[in-house]
Amino acid sequence: MRTSQPQTIYLKDYRVPAFLVDHVDLRFELFEDGARVYSLLSMRRNPDSDGSDTSLELDGDSLTTLESVSLDGSELAKDAYEDRTDRLVVHDVPDQFELGVVTWIEPQNNTRLEGLYKSSGMFCTQCEAEGFRCITYFPDRPDVMARFRTRIEADKASFPILLSNGNDVEKGELDGGRHFVTWEDPFPKPSYLFALVAGDLVEQRDSFETMSGREIDLRMYVEPRNVEKCAHAMDSLKRAMRWDEEVYGREYDLDIFMIVAVDDFNMGAMENKGLNIFNSSCVLASQETATDQAFQRIESIVAHEYFHNWSGNRVTCRDWFQLSLKEGFTVFRDSQFSADMGSPTVKRIEDATMLRTAQFAEDSGPMAHPVRPESYMEITNFYTLTIYEKGCEVVRMIHTLLGADMFRKGSDLYFERHDGQAVTTDDFVRAMEDASGRDLSQFRLWYEQAGTPELTVRDEFDQGAGIYRLTIEQVIPDTPGQTNKKPQHIPFAVGLLGAGGESLPLKLSAGETDAPTDRILELTEASHTFEFHDLAERPVPSLLRDFSAPVRVYYPWTREQLMFLMSHDPDGFNRWDAGQRLAVDVISELVGDTGNEAIDGGLTDAYRGLLSDVSLDQALVAKMLQLPSEAYLIELAEKPNVPAIHQARERVLKHLAAALRDDLLACYRRNTVEGRYEVTPESVARRSLRNTALAWLLHIDDEEGRSLAVSQFERADNMTDRMGALRALVNSGYEQARDEALGAFYERWKADPQVVEQWFAVQSGSSRTGGLPKIRELMEHPAFDWKNPNKIRSVIGVFAGQNLPAFHAEDGAGYRFLAEQVRRLDDSNPQIAARLVSPLTRWRKFAPVHGEQMKTALESIRDKSGLSRDVYEVVHKSLA
Ligand code: PHE
Ligand code: ZN
Repeated sequence: MRTSQPQTIYLKDYRVPAFLVDHVDLRFELFEDGARVYSLLSMRRNPDSDGSDTSLELDGDSLTTLESVSLDGSELAKDAYEDRTDRLVVHDVPDQFELGVVTWIEPQNNTRLEGLYKSSGMFCTQCEAEGFRCITYFPDRPDVMARFRTRIEADKASFPILLSNGNDVEKGELDGGRHFVTWEDPFPKPSYLFALVAGDLVEQRDSFETMSGREIDLRMYVEPRNVEKCAHAMDSLKRAMRWDEEVYGREYDLDIFMIVAVDDFNMGAMENKGLNIFNSSCVLASQETATDQAFQRIESIVAHEYFHNWSGNRVTCRDWFQLSLKEGFTVFRDSQFSADMGSPTVKRIEDATMLRTAQFAEDSGPMAHPVRPESYMEITNFYTLTIYEKGCEVVRMIHTLLGADMFRKGSDLYFERHDGQAVTTDDFVRAMEDASGRDLSQFRLWYEQAGTPELTVRDEFDQGAGIYRLTIEQVIPDTPGQTNKKPQHIPFAVGLLGAGGESLPLKLSAGETDAPTDRILELTEASHTFEFHDLAERPVPSLLRDFSAPVRVYYPWTREQLMFLMSHDPDGFNRWDAGQRLAVDVISELVGDTGNEAIDGGLTDAYRGLLSDVSLDQALVAKMLQLPSEAYLIELAEKPNVPAIHQARERVLKHLAAALRDDLLACYRRNTVEGRYEVTPESVARRSLRNTALAWLLHIDDEEGRSLAVSQFERADNMTDRMGALRALVNSGYEQARDEALGAFYERWKADPQVVEQWFAVQSGSSRTGGLPKIRELMEHPAFDWKNPNKIRSVIGVFAGQNLPAFHAEDGAGYRFLAEQVRRLDDSNPQIAARLVSPLTRWRKFAPVHGEQMKTALESIRDKSGLSRDVYEVVHKSLA
C-alpha cells in the first residue's frame, strides 16, 4: 500500500540500465496456498552505462516474502542486501555474476490481476507493463532483454496443462501427484512479455505453413465448456499470419503459437511471446453467443496480438514513454488487416467514430498527453486512446505521405535495423525517413504535441479567372503543460465536385494536363492557400477525404451541400460524414427547444433515399443510417446539456421512424438473411440494416414492429439478431415484452459468462430501463462479480459511458454512484478503478450544475485514505 505521494517519472531522466540480464532461469512451484518462485539471473554490467553503480537495484511489488538471495551460488547474509519491498538492493556486486532470488507469493489473493494470479481455478500471468516485479525481483524495464527458461511444477490432476513462452523442452512426473514442464524461449525478451499458464484446459490444435515452408503448431487452450467457441479465433489467426507475410513480409519465428482464454483480465489481450493470453470476451465466439461486432472485434484483436510478434516483441520499446511505438504501429497494422478482410470504408468509419468521440475527448481533457508522453505517475494509466488510436493515425499519416511502397521499404528497414532491440518512436520515424528520403522532422511534432489540431477552411471562387481558392488554417489548442504549439505537418486529402456530382480535375496551375481528381494537400504552416484552376463553376469541396488526419475540420457547410455530398461524393467516408454533419446540425438545432421547432424535411428525404436505394453499397448505408451517438453530440457541444441532447436526438429518431415507417418495414423484410450464418460485409450489413429498422420502429411503439421483434427474438439462430431484437424491446415502451425477453434470455444463457455480460450491458446502457435503481439491482444479481473486470465494465462502465442521460441526472446521483464504486474498487483492482474514473474527469466541459457535482464526486475519491497510485494520478490531474 502506498504511504507517500506518488512520484512522477520523466522521459528526460531516462538512463540506460546499469546491469543487463543475459539469461533467466525460473522455477515455479505452484500450490493452492501460494507459489514459490526460484529465479537465477545471469547478469553483467552494461558496457554502455557509466559503470558507477556498485549496487544492483531490482524492482519488486507486492511480493509476500523474500526467502533468500544468493550471489554466484552462495547465500547472502542479510546485511549484504536491502529488502525495501518495492526494491531489492544488493551491495558490491562484481561485473559479472549469477544472482539467485527465491520469493513466496500468493496468486490466490491477487485481485489486481497483475503478475501471477488465479482466474476460474487456473494460474495465469499478466506482466505488461510492470507485473513481472509482482512475481520476483527483477530489472523490470523493457530495455533489459533476456533469454528465459521456465520450469513449472504443479499438481497434475488439477493442472494438467503447464505453459510458458517458447518450446517445451522437458517434462516429467514428481512425487505427490505432481508434474513439471520446462519451457525455453530462444528469443531474448523483456520481462513484460513473460507468461505462464497452469490449468485444467482443453487443447484445440491446428497448423500453419509459413512462407518459407515451416510448419507451425497452433494451439488454443480453453476451459472444456468453451471448446465450441474456438474456431473463429483460430481462423482469424491463420488469416493474420498469412496477411503479415504478404503485406509486411513478416514470418512467424517459433515452432509453436499458443492462445489461452481467461475470464478475469484487466484488458483485451496480451501479446506474450508465443503465448498470447486473451480476455475470454475477446477470443471466444460462436454464432449463438457472439454478435457480428464481437466476431469482427475478435478477428482484429487476434490479429493485433499476433502482429505484435514483430511490432513489439522482436522490436520492442526502450521505455514506456515509447509505448505507441508498438501500440500505434500494431493498431495501424490490425486496422489495415481488418480493412482488407472486410469493407475498408466501414472500417474507416468505425475507427474515425471512435477517435472523434472518445480520443478527441481525451485530448481536450485533463489527462491529455502526447502520443509520446513526457511524464507519468502510473504507466497503466497511459494505455489510452491517444497512445493506441491516435498513435495509429500518426503511423497512417506516414503511410499516406510516403505511399504504400515506400512505407513498406521503411518498415522493412525498421525491422532489419532494430531486430532484437528496444527502441524509440524516433527510431521508427528515422527508418521511414531513411528508406524514403523524405524529411519528417516537422512531422515528429505529432508525437510531441498533445491536442487535436483544429482546421478552419474558407473558400472563394473567382468566376472570371476560373480559380477556386481554399484557405486552411490550423490551430492546436493548449493542453496541460503545453501552450503555443507549432503547426504540424498534416496530409489533407481533398476532391472537388461539379454541379452534376462529377469529380473535377484538381489543377494546381492553369492548363495542367492529366490532373488527378484526388489530392493530398500537405499543410505545414499556420495558414495555407491552395488554388485550383480552370473551373467553370463554383465546386463543392470534399474535405479531409477518408479522414486523412486526426483533426477537426470547420467549414460552413450548407445543408444543400451536405445532402449533395451524401449522394454524390465518391469518397465513401465523406459521404457518410456529410450525413453525420447533417444529422448533427438538425439535432443540435432542436436542443433545448420546447417541441415546436419543425424537423427539417431534408433529413427525412435523405434517409428515405438511403433506405430504399438498393443500388447503394449496403454496408455503407447501414452505417449512414446510424444517427450520431449522444457521446459524439456531447463531444461536439460546448457546455452540453446532456438531458436536452438526449431529448433532441430522441425526437429526431421518433420523427424519422414515424415518417419512414413503411420504408423501415420494407427494409426490414428485404434484409432477411437466408441460409448459413456468415460474417461477410454483405451479411453483416443486412443484419445491421434489419436491426436498425427494427430499433427505429420500436422507438415509436409500432405494434407490427413489436411482433416482428418478439418473433425475431424467439427464432433467431444467431446472437446478432437475438440481441438486436432484445435491444429494440429493451428500448421500447413494451414493458411486458421486454421483461419476458430479458427473463428468457437470462434463463437460456445464464451459464455463459460472455452472454451474461451482454445481458448486463443491454440493460445498464438503456436509458429506458437503466436508471440507478436498475444498476444497483444488477449489481445485486448473483451473476455480478466484483472480482471480474468484465462484469464491472458491463454494468458500471456501460452505465457511466453509454447511459448518458441517467449518468448525468440533474441531482448528481450518477456521479456519486460512480465515485462510490471507484472508492470501493480502488483497494482490490486499482487499474480498473482508475479507468472507471474517466467520465468524471471531464467535469469542466459541462455546465456548472453538472460540473460542480462531478468535481465533488472526484474530491470524494481524492479524500479516500490509501488511494492507489493509479487513481491518485487521474483524480489529481483532473482536479488540478
Ligand atoms: N499490450 C496489450 C495489447 O495492446 C494490452 C495490454 C496492456 C494488456 C497492459 C494487458 C496489460 O495488445
Ligand atoms: Zn497492443
